[in-house]
Amino acid sequence: MKTINRVTIVGGCGHVGLPLGIVLAANAGLQVDLLDIDPVKIDLVNSGAMPFMERGADERLREVVGKSLKATLDPTCINAADAVITVVGTPVDRHLNPTVNEVYHSIDALLDHMRDGTLLVLRSTVYPGVTKLVHDRLRRLNRKVLLAFCPERIAEGNAIEELVKLPQIVSAFESDAMAAAKQLFGKIAPTLIELTPPEAELAKLFTNAWRYANFAISNQFYMLAESRGLDFYRIHDAVTRDYPRMRSFARAGFAAGPCLLKDTLQLAAFSQNNFFLGHAAMLINEGLPMFLVEQLRPNDLANKRVAILGMAFKAESDDKRDSLSFKLKKLLEVEALEVLCTDPYLRESYFVSLEAAIRKADIVIIGAPHNVYRDVEIPEGKIVVDPWNFLPAKALASTSV
Ligand SMILES: NC(=O)c1ccc[n+]([C@@H]2O[C@H](COP(=O)([O-])OP(=O)(O)OC[C@H]3O[C@@H](n4cnc5c(N)ncnc54)[C@H](O)[C@@H]3O)[C@@H](O)[C@H]2O)c1
Repeated sequence: MKTINRVTIVGGCGHVGLPLGIVLAANAGLQVDLLDIDPVKIDLVNSGAMPFMERGADERLREVVGKSLKATLDPTCINAADAVITVVGTPVDRHLNPTVNEVYHSIDALLDHMRDGTLLVLRSTVYPGVTKLVHDRLRRLNRKVLLAFCPERIAEGNAIEELVKLPQIVSAFESDAMAAAKQLFGKIAPTLIELTPPEAELAKLFTNAWRYANFAISNQFYMLAESRGLDFYRIHDAVTRDYPRMRSFARAGFAAGPCLLKDTLQLAAFSQNNFFLGHAAMLINEGLPMFLVEQLRPNDLANKRVAILGMAFKAESDDKRDSLSFKLKKLLEVEALEVLCTDPYLRESYFVSLEAAIRKADIVIIGAPHNVYRDVEIPEGKIVVDPWNFLPAKALASTSV
């Protein structure tokens, strides 16, 4: 089997590609080319700066950039690669359907530069069956590329730590491709779990759909309790305290971002829209902003200023993709006197400072529970909405809804 020394990551400056490239260069000593189509991100990476927040990544990037790692727009870097890993985005389209064509056809552009015998790893989260489609296409084109599907399972923001801690699922149709994939990921992952590609595709989608449904349970129970004037978190605390069987009972809050909903919808499409649990989870999680607005309506919302603290899709993140804080903003803009948005990690021309948001607002809603809000002091008399139960009791001296 050929030794893997040089890797190209396609989509290499993205949230999955870049941390993986850094770890392959820094931990496994590989030569890594990050191929991307975004010149701004490429320049940032080559100057040693991360284009987005990722814990522990800045120092590691600076260790390897310009030495064993570089970002490039030039696809000819693929010519020299022993392995090509593709992690381009796989969003659902505006009809909420998976976009299979883009991944499928993007492979052709890579093949122009790939030598036979090279490992091709699909790492994007794909619609079930895509690996087989690519495999069949390689056969038809009579290309002897070694195809594997090895899904990424890190939580964005924790990739540098998790890539070397989490077991890696590896899958391939042929034993030589499986061996090559094991050689590559064996350099960083503590354990390798072998599956067939159809199993691995479902394994990834099950992981995200399970998390999404789990958050939906909590959000449904939150809405159920709060709509009857009951404090969800008193009940949550009672049922989870010293009771191991409820350990996975998540807190309520916005379940959003670029993956969980999208991957639940991929599974829904795969089940020919018979994935009732997934659709229900979508209605519940996507419905939470509406619920919060409904709860606030008796407070003369039309004459109130509302501040949303945290516009990113989750805590300690600068990723706003599919953030429900923006959905909440949109709903409030037609209901409230004014909507004030603030976030320590995101820049938008209309954002205001945390201080201004709290000073001006009559109602304060926690959109993303960033750590900086822990010490926030909200003056008495303001209404606070904290579906996460994140704020310490002192901040809630004001009225809590
Ligand atoms: N973000 C996560 O936490 C996460 C976790 C696990 C899996 N995934 C999956 O990984 C995949 C990538 O997600 P992401 O969050 O990294 O997306 P991203 O948008 O952050 O990164 C994708 C990168 O690909 C680049 N790109 C797009 N088309 C390209 C092309 N033709 N050639 C070269 N580069 C191209 C983009 O410029 C971007 O830098 C998706 O399938 C996603 O579902 C994401």
